[in-house]
Amino acid sequence: MANQTPAVVMDNGTGFSKLGFAGNDSPSFVFPTAIATKGAAGTGALAPVDQLGCGVRGPGYGLHYPIRHGQIENWDHMERFWSNSIFKYLRVEPEEHFFLLTEPPLNPPENRENTAEIFFESFNCAGLYIAVQAVLALAASWTSSKVHDRSLTGTVIDSGDGVTHVIPVAEGYVIGSSIKSIPIAGRDITYFVQSLLRDRGEPDSSLRTAQEIKEEYCYVCPDIVKEFSRYDRDRSRFIKHVVSQPGGRQVSVDVGYERFMAPEIFFNPEIYSSDFLTPLPVVVDGNIVLSGGSTLYKDFGRRLQRDIKHLVDARIRASEVRSGGAKSGGLEVQVITHKRQRHGPWFGGSLLGQTPEFRSYCHTKAEPSGELQLRVTLTVFIAARNPWSFVRDRQMHPAAEIQASGQQIIIQAH
Ligand SMILES: Nc1ncnc2c1ncn2[C@@H]1O[C@H](COP(=O)(O)OP(=O)(O)OP(=O)(O)O)[C@@H](O)[C@H]1O
Ligand SMILES: [Mg+2]
Repeated sequence: MANQTPAVVMDNGTGFSKLGFAGNDSPSFVFPTAIATKGAAGTGALAPVDQLGCGVRGPGYGLHYPIRHGQIENWDHMERFWSNSIFKYLRVEPEEHFFLLTEPPLNPPENRENTAEIFFESFNCAGLYIAVQAVLALAASWTSSKVHDRSLTGTVIDSGDGVTHVIPVAEGYVIGSSIKSIPIAGRDITYFVQSLLRDRGEPDSSLRTAQEIKEEYCYVCPDIVKEFSRYDRDRSRFIKHVVSQPGGRQVSVDVGYERFMAPEIFFNPEIYSSDFLTPLPVVVDGNIVLSGGSTLYKDFGRRLQRDIKHLVDARIRASEVRSGGAKSGGLEVQVITHKRQRHGPWFGGSLLGQTPEFRSYCHTKAEPSGELQLRVTLTVFIAARNPWSFVRDRQMHPAAEIQASGQQIIIQAH
């Protein structure tokens, strides 16, 4: 039966879960990775969470986010969240489906083990595969006309709600030693917008309103000083955003400088944080360059490409000087944005999950005999996890580090 049904693809992020079936163009459900529970210990009845995760329908409920910074932190809540996803949203019988789940880079093996245990022992799923989000995001970028060879080599910037990762991938293998993380992502940008709204005393400065404003109006500008003066010259750049409050009341919120100030945090983090001060283009690293961007902000990729190019050119010039005038051929920087950016890992999973080989590489509960063996086998299988091993069944490519310094930059944004 499970061989005839489509694989279920689930990308559970810090902020949003993307759920659907392999072979589809987009997830069937996208909703906050949050559960609302009644009672202090968070073990009582579940309640629905609204689309933005900002409100819970029902008095006395507490809201919980089981994933923090990309990693599952509360397994009990996560299991309940998965159960809801499978039985109430997707409405599937897990024993009749193979499942493709995603994980962040450098996910500890115990997390994979716990996930497998829940899916096999609580849900009795027919088969399970856990793929790294960045590798799936690379596959999703194949839909871009700028991508000519469908390779799994490139660097992904995956910037979601809770974490931004810069992840070099060579032939489907994540180069773990070179992954960099930035503690700034979508939720921080929302908080920043909210703080500006509060400072101005806007009539509504809720998180929901801040998130709406961020998603609808924010963009990346080429030069923040010039942009300020453009706003001062041209009042039409200020926008009135109408918010419908509970009870039907409508209020108008002014939207101004935050339109370009908020995403500028990626390029000048000091405007938001005094702890983390490194701009994203520097983290990507000019010499190995390679990475694409987080977001759907207008012109994010363009600005990243420009800033990385400046860094790379400066380094090349410095190395030419050091080598006594030898001329370098230069290094092309290409930042790829594409239509599937928004749900890149999910879409890559959808592509992967519909291939004929997919099921043969899934782990199934029937394979091992005995509980201990199940645990050992799961650990070995999932820990070894060559992400696309069914495509390229071999060990780490010996030239992986070199290939990772290729010239492709993939933007994975959300
Ligand atoms: N058009 C947009 N412009 C800017 N930001 C957006 C836009 N659409 C969504 N976002 C932001 O993207 C974030 C959600 O992205 P995504 O679903 O990829 O994150 P996630 O997978 O839940 O988190 P993570 O990958 O960090 O664990 C939210 O902060 C949301 O506000
Ligand atoms: Mg994500």
